[in-house]
Amino acid sequence: MTNTYAIVLAAGQGTRMKSDLYKVLHPVCGKPMVEHVIDHIRSLNANRIVTIVGYGAEAVEEVLGEKSEYALQKEQLGTAHAVQQAEQLIGDLEGTTIVVCGDTPLIRPETMEALIAHHDKTSAKATILTAYADDPTGYGRIIRGEDGQVLRNVEQKDATEEEQKVTEINTGTYCFNNRALFETLKKVKNDNAQGEYYLPDVVGILQSENERVSAYVTEDFSETLGVNDRVVLSEAESVMRRRIAEKHMRNGVTIIHPDATYISADATIGRDTVLQPGTMIEGQTVIGEKCIIGPNSQLVNSVIGDNTTIYSSVILSSQIGNDTNVGPFAHIRPDSNVGNHVKIGNFVEVKKSTLGEGSKVSHLSYIGDSNVGSRVNVGCGTITVNYDGKNKYTTTIEDDAFIGCNSNLVAPVTVKQGAYVAAGSTITENVPENSLAIGRARQENKEDYVKKLNLK
Ligand code: UD1
Ligand code: CA
Repeated sequence: MTNTYAIVLAAGQGTRMKSDLYKVLHPVCGKPMVEHVIDHIRSLNANRIVTIVGYGAEAVEEVLGEKSEYALQKEQLGTAHAVQQAEQLIGDLEGTTIVVCGDTPLIRPETMEALIAHHDKTSAKATILTAYADDPTGYGRIIRGEDGQVLRNVEQKDATEEEQKVTEINTGTYCFNNRALFETLKKVKNDNAQGEYYLPDVVGILQSENERVSAYVTEDFSETLGVNDRVVLSEAESVMRRRIAEKHMRNGVTIIHPDATYISADATIGRDTVLQPGTMIEGQTVIGEKCIIGPNSQLVNSVIGDNTTIYSSVILSSQIGNDTNVGPFAHIRPDSNVGNHVKIGNFVEVKKSTLGEGSKVSHLSYIGDSNVGSRVNVGCGTITVNYDGKNKYTTTIEDDAFIGCNSNLVAPVTVKQGAYVAAGSTITENVPENSLAIGRARQENKEDYVKKLNLK
């Protein structure tokens, strides 16, 4: 097998985005577009991946980390010049090199694979991935000879009126014989409308030297969207959203309204789970089987078990067990671990806390920095008082404890196993096992007092 290398172009500023964020870092379905490209390439098992960075180099390297090697393009003199920066890393290797733009996040790994296979099969020196566009404006056009042979690419700004009518476009993805690529790059000139060194000129130069060049046409134009501005960014978002939703539906997930459901590229969802409209599944979230999520739930980097319902709630960087009900209108903040058969009801906020099997916090509570055991009942309106204005403290509620409504548990404090706290108590001292703590003013009834005040 021939070795394969990949070069990803990500040095441009992306002026047309009109943004402080570098173009290739704009997210599509929650993931920076260049990371989509890199993840697709990684799934092809390329021997080396080099990302060309320039504008925002540090930010791009921080996002991609170890997933790629990097070559710096100090000045953005064009796509050919960008590729040239990889020469010191891979210039003298034998093999096939795929070049992909960092702003084309929709090209699927299957298409890249087919392009490489086509390239290797035809023994071409260069193969360009093309597509037919209804509106080719802005893209490079593929100029073919009378026999259909690819001759060259012409950029929009350099094209004659006749050439502008061509609807076959350059997707910005190519395969090259690696040695031939770096040899030919030296011959690319910048005598064009933009004064730039154009990578697609390599194809024309090789052709004029009687080397074999070819094109591989992809059927699906939407795959090739190059995100140059925010209008196309939103198109890319909706294509990707649809694609992700279809993948899950084919795997057995019911999505009531796919266009109103937002699932990140890296989420995992089990069979027979139902996603209701308005739901956002973000980051590396994992959802088990037979869950009901939504309507209007937001889950970020969280793990949900099986048979669990998350009803109109927000779950951030937390774990929720099996057969558990959350919501409506609950807020589970980071680092929480909610066990199996738990009930968390409306207007409950949980932060950095654990709740054991079968426990219930059904209404209007704040549980922060707490360890709650199993089969605990936390009454309506209970607050763990975890903050003194400077430090945070832990509340521990052991197994089978019962906390009456409207109690304050002033941390650090422990309610031991099986203990009861009377409703309306403010608990400042530990409560021993199986005892009842009452921490409230005793009620006094003043008979006929109302009459004395002459109120009636
Ligand atoms: C490019 C192609 C065009 C093709 C289109 C597909 C050229 C000259 N034109 O045009 O034929 O139809 O992509 O989307 O290649 N970049 C660098 N360094 C540079 C210039 C660009 O790294 O000096 C990177 C950009 O960050 C971007 C990619 O290369 O990720 C493409 O550059 P862009 O300016 O978007 O090219 P297009 O005008 O879209
Ligand atoms: Ca582009």
